[in-house]
Amino acid sequence: MKTGAQIAGELAGCVSLATDICRDEPLAKHTTLRIGGPADVYVEPASEADLVAAVKFCHERSLPFFVIGRGSNLLVRDGGFRGVAICLAQPNFSRIEVAGERLHCGAGAKLKNIAIEAKRNGLGGVEFLEGIPGSVGGALRMNAGAMGGATFNVIESVRFMDHTGKIQERSRAGMPVEYRCCPLLKDHIALGAVFRCLPAPREEIEKRMKEFSERRWASQPAAPSAGCTFKNPATISAGKLIDELGLKGTRVGGAVVSAEHGNFIVNDGNATARDVLELIAILQQRAKTERGIELQTEVEIIGAD
Ligand code: EPU
Repeated sequence: MKTGAQIAGELAGCVSLATDICRDEPLAKHTTLRIGGPADVYVEPASEADLVAAVKFCHERSLPFFVIGRGSNLLVRDGGFRGVAICLAQPNFSRIEVAGERLHCGAGAKLKNIAIEAKRNGLGGVEFLEGIPGSVGGALRMNAGAMGGATFNVIESVRFMDHTGKIQERSRAGMPVEYRCCPLLKDHIALGAVFRCLPAPREEIEKRMKEFSERRWASQPAAPSAGCTFKNPATISAGKLIDELGLKGTRVGGAVVSAEHGNFIVNDGNATARDVLELIAILQQRAKTERGIELQTEVEIIGAD
């Protein structure tokens, strides 16, 4: 088995000098929960060509890898990730180009910036992206949503690649989605997407964004979290259920069920992934025994103990 240093050295030979490669990078620095052990190798490709090269590199060597966006829906275990974490943080991935009613966006573009750019150009329909702390790639992968909107409702087409580096583009119709999931993107990597907006008066867009922002600040915590912990079960919102069970404020170590919203677990400063996982198990157990409901995590959990 190769060491992180050997892998990083070989990978450096396959990509351009502008690609950043680190060893033992603490993933806590790259998740909104501020939790997570180190990745053996951490790469920020400088270009799509370097991303393709990095993915092919991992695929050909059967090295585990994952792509990290803004780390907002992610719980990395305390032992970190034995493999390569690929982060689309370099500027080449964050482009947002306006063409008429369409926004051409890179996978690393922040959702907030898309909402702002749309507003600047008098384009409505994507106001709900304003408060989702994620990037385009992550939002596509999990069909992220808020305030009644969902990512794929405003998508016209998606560019993505498979693990051999083959790139294709598909229209929205060719990409079946579910609540909080785009199955095709579980084993493909989103490179970018075209968002379809509708022209609207700027004041109206501004008003909607302000309303959404106020609703969010009034109902969701500002402390570090991974967003909603669980998917909403069919019969009740997970946050309401946890609230009704009297579980707000339940704590394991530094992980606490938010007082503002029952479906958020916040990091009170020094939480470990183990704390969060234990707390998740408690909430699932109580929902099951007291209400017969199986809570499924929305947060993606990766890495080693
Ligand atoms: N509620 C409570 N107590 C709580 C939380 C909520 O009684 O502690 C009640 C609310 O008063 C409301 C209902 O439950 O009547 C639904 O709450 P909310 O409007 O906050 O929506 P949600 O279903 O809990 C969903 C998304 C959020 C998104 C909000 C706002 C999921 C799992 N969650 O939450 O998305 O921001 O709607 O649109 O679908 C995320 O996915 O990470 C996320 C934060």
